[in-house]
Order: sequence, then structure tokens, then C-alpha cells
Amino acid sequence: MLSRLLPLYAALLLGCGSCFAASAVDWWESATLYQIYPRSFMDSDGDGVGDLNGITTRLAYLKEIGVTATWLSPIFASPMADFGYDISNFTKIDPLFGTLTDFDALIAKAHALGIKIILDFVPNHSSDECEWFQKSIRREDGYDDFYIWEDGKIDAETGERVPPSNWVSVFSGPMWTWNEQRQQYYLHQFLPKQPDLNFSNPMVREHMLEVLKFWVDRGADGFRIDAVPHIGEKRFANGTYPDEPLSGWSDDPNSYNYHDHIYTKDQPLTLEVVYEWREFLDEYKRQHERDTIVLIAEAYSSVEVLSDYINNGTHSGTQMPMNFNLMSLNGYSTAKNVEDSVKGWMDNIWEKHQSANWVVGNHDNDRLATRMGQHKVDLMTMLVHALPGTSVTYYGEEIGMSNVATECTAISCEDRDPERTPMQWDTTDHAGFTTGPTSWLPISPNYKRFNVATERGVARSTLQIFKGMTQLKQTNAFKAFKEEGGFAFGAVSEQVFQVVRTAFLEEEYRILINMGNKVEYVHDLANKTMEYVLLSRHSPHSFGDKVDLSQRIYLMPYEALVLRGSAGSG
Ligand code: GLC
Ligand code: MG
Repeated sequence: MLSRLLPLYAALLLGCGSCFAASAVDWWESATLYQIYPRSFMDSDGDGVGDLNGITTRLAYLKEIGVTATWLSPIFASPMADFGYDISNFTKIDPLFGTLTDFDALIAKAHALGIKIILDFVPNHSSDECEWFQKSIRREDGYDDFYIWEDGKIDAETGERVPPSNWVSVFSGPMWTWNEQRQQYYLHQFLPKQPDLNFSNPMVREHMLEVLKFWVDRGADGFRIDAVPHIGEKRFANGTYPDEPLSGWSDDPNSYNYHDHIYTKDQPLTLEVVYEWREFLDEYKRQHERDTIVLIAEAYSSVEVLSDYINNGTHSGTQMPMNFNLMSLNGYSTAKNVEDSVKGWMDNIWEKHQSANWVVGNHDNDRLATRMGQHKVDLMTMLVHALPGTSVTYYGEEIGMSNVATECTAISCEDRDPERTPMQWDTTDHAGFTTGPTSWLPISPNYKRFNVATERGVARSTLQIFKGMTQLKQTNAFKAFKEEGGFAFGAVSEQVFQVVRTAFLEEEYRILINMGNKVEYVHDLANKTMEYVLLSRHSPHSFGDKVDLSQRIYLMPYEALVLRGSAGSG
């Protein structure tokens, strides 16, 4: 008890009854992080593709809905084989998106509004059209070993040349491609147009630190690091690459799931490199007196591995490896499933590092409404912001956008297109995304129902819930999650999941979410009366009404609500 009171006494001495909780939380620790896919957010020049100036014109909207940081998928020079995840020049803006001057203007406006800008950092590979790769093919001085080159092996039976190992790329097919000019194989964990850089080469590491420096000099507040687990590969001292064992998860030898990736994922070299980036950025921060420059790792890895990406006891790495646990929920998930996926993070990463983030969508996975059903969008919008730490949402989720059936066109033929269609701003042509005659991907046929303008005007829309929740994230109760007793969570019935957020001796919020399709009753939640402050679209309850939690209360199917009361009983 004493330890709980100490910060309070300290705060009272400073003449501030509540600021102790909030002040202990750095900006990234409880941010509202919003991912923008620049091709699809807002087109300013009518070419049907979103751009930086388009984003700049919509920053006021981000401010309005309570976004505190936004992560932009790649905006750098690229032949767009993987829509910017194949970079040909790491310090150049692709003309499709604009210019460096546009970028500077975006940063200036964002910072004036108090919004941090996080860039996508794609270190694992470059485009094959990158000058570095072209020099490497020609074995130019200093670039010979910039990528991972190998002669391959001679097949004993056929006498033919075969790749150095049996490795299969993430996008299927061999991870090695023969280069006629250099007469060697090169490694690519993704497309053949995305050759992997060689991180055991100090020069490559130098170049990548320069890339980070270039963008922090221009005001970037952090980086989402792409494909982190794929940075290093196992290579034996004799120069050979070991075959990976079968996984048993697939019968298709060309599928990424065919092997267990013990030599191509989460290798020690990867950790080393991540720690190097952290050290560099921390030093930069000190020298330039900047806010914390955050590193967010995209890593579909086990919690043990993610823990090491944060800190292995000796070195610090990324503050936030993305937590994809909530993305494995589906339309049938129960309150208990939610509890398990939340616990999966809290019992491990939170316990060890006091870092939590919750991702509900991104450009590589089906949209939330498609994955879980439109009727679950409000619930998940409440959940992702109710949990302690950083919420990570994907553009359009705040208005309930769903996947759009897309056809293979001349511009695009990607199985991830359906979750990348243009943002739906209003009911005008092309949903207000572009003034041009077409958009690079089709506008959703349901845009007249699901768009920002319409959602703004409805009292209990997904957008209003999103806004309401991001406002709550600014309260002392939501910022006290690192204090003892600051938060609690769990299934309180078969289908009702509860999150409690408390500022000691002040305020308390309870978020109750009915995951099921039946009316649910819960008893004796607490010995206190609280008030409804946020309600999902079809809730029969009314704002401001009081509810006695010592009694039996009910939630309608898929109903979600937020209650406010004082901390403690009463
Ligand atoms: C990451 C990105 C994905 C991209 C891949 C290769 O997984 O999120 O979109 O295709 O890396 O860069
Ligand atoms: Mg454009």
C-alpha cells in the first residue's frame, strides 16, 4: 500500500493530484498509432494514386479523430513491384508520391498539430533496380558483397547447377535467383525483384545508418522496421548454406510453409543489427535533444523472440515489436479467446518490458470487418483502444471499411489488393479520394454507407466510438496503466470481456464487450454505480444513464459499452 501512496504524496507535494501517472508515460507508450497506405489515402493531383500532399490535407482529420502518430507505408523511389517495399533509392521520395519539399511540408504540418510521423524502414532488401544492386552485379569496388551471392551447387545426378540451398521465399518459389550477368545466384527472402542486403557486411550497415540519419534529420519521429525476422540468414564458416527441414504444414514444395525456417528467420545477426539501430537513434536523440525516436518491429515471431528484440538483458532494440495477437481472432472468437490473446502478450512481454501495443489491421491482412464481421467492428474498435499501451489501427478501420473484390488490372494484380482500396471520405464520386477520372484500385461499392462524412453525422457510429476512445486514452485513468492497480482485464462471463482502467483515488472506466450473438448477463461486477459514456451502434442504453454494478446487468448481442465512475467503491 505504501508504495502505491508514495507517488501520490510526491505528486501532492508538487501541487498536482494526478499528473504523476501521466508523466511517467513516454509518447509512444500509449500512442494512438494509425497506419496510412499512401497510395490509397488521399490523391491531391488527380492521377488516381494517393500522395504526400493528399496526406497533408487530411492531417486535420487525423487530429480530429485523436490520432497521435501515423505510420506511412513506404514513400520512397521504387519500381513498385511490391508497392514501395522494393526501394530503388532509400533517400528519395517516389515522384508518384511527391517531392522532399512535400515531405518537409507534411512533417511541419503534422508536428504543428502534435502528430508524430513514423516512416517505413525496409532494410532487409532493396529493389533489383537500386544502384547498389546494379553495382553489386558488376562487382564494383565496395559493392561486391553488398548482397548475398553464391555459386550454387552441382547436382550429383543431373550434373546441373542448382541453388545453394532448398530455401523457399515468403512469396513462394526458390529464395535464390540466378543472375546471368554475374553468373551467380542471389538471395531474396521476398520477390526476385527484392534482393536481400548482406548485413554481415559493415558497409551495408553503414549505409543503413545513413538512411536512418537522413530521415531523422528531416524530422521523422520513428520507424516501423519491415520484415525484421528476415534480415539475417545462416551461413556456415565454409561458405555453404544449410537446407531447412520440412515443417509438415504444407505439401507444396513451393510454399513458404513447406519448411521450418530455422536458418532464415530470427538469426543472431538480426538482433545485433537491431541493437545497433537503437544505439544509433538513442545517441542521436541525446545529441539533438529530441523526443524518443521509436523503433517498431514488424515481426511475426514467438514472444520469446519478440522479447529479445526489445531487450536481451544486455542490449535494447525496438521499443515495440508489433503485437499481432488480436489479428488471429475471428468471427467466432469468444470472450475467453480475447482474454487468451491479451494474456499472451501481458503475461510475457508486458511482464518483462512494460511495453504493450495492439494491432487490429494492416495492408497485408484482410480488413477487420471482413475478418470478424461488420457487427464486430465497433467491439474491436473499443477493445484496441481500451487495452493498455499503444493502439495500432489501419486507415479505414475507423469507418468500418471492408475488403473489396478487385480484379487484376494493368496497374495491380496482388492478392492483398482487397484490403488496400481507397479511403472513403464522402458520398461524392470516387468517395472524395480523387478528383481524377479513375482510382488505382476500385472504390468500394459500399462507400455511400461507409464514409467519413456520413459517420461523422451519426451519434453512435464507428467513427464516434473511435473518437470517444482516443479521447479516453488522454485521461489520467487511461494513462495510469503502469501504476499498480491501473488496469485489469478478463472475461467476466462466457461472452463478455471487461477492461478496467483506473486512476487511483480519482476516476475509473470499465469497458464491457459482448463478443457473442446472445443477450449476456453479468453479476456483481463491482460495488458501485457507474454511468454510460460510450455505446455501440445498436445499444439500447442511453448516454448518462446510471447502472448499479452490484446488481445483475445485461448486454445485448455484440453490444459494447464504456462506463465511468469514481475509483474505489461508491
Ligand atoms: C512486410 C510488408 C509487406 C511486404 C514485405 C516485403 O511484410 O508488410 O507488405 O510485402 O514485408 O517487404
Ligand atoms: Mg497522386
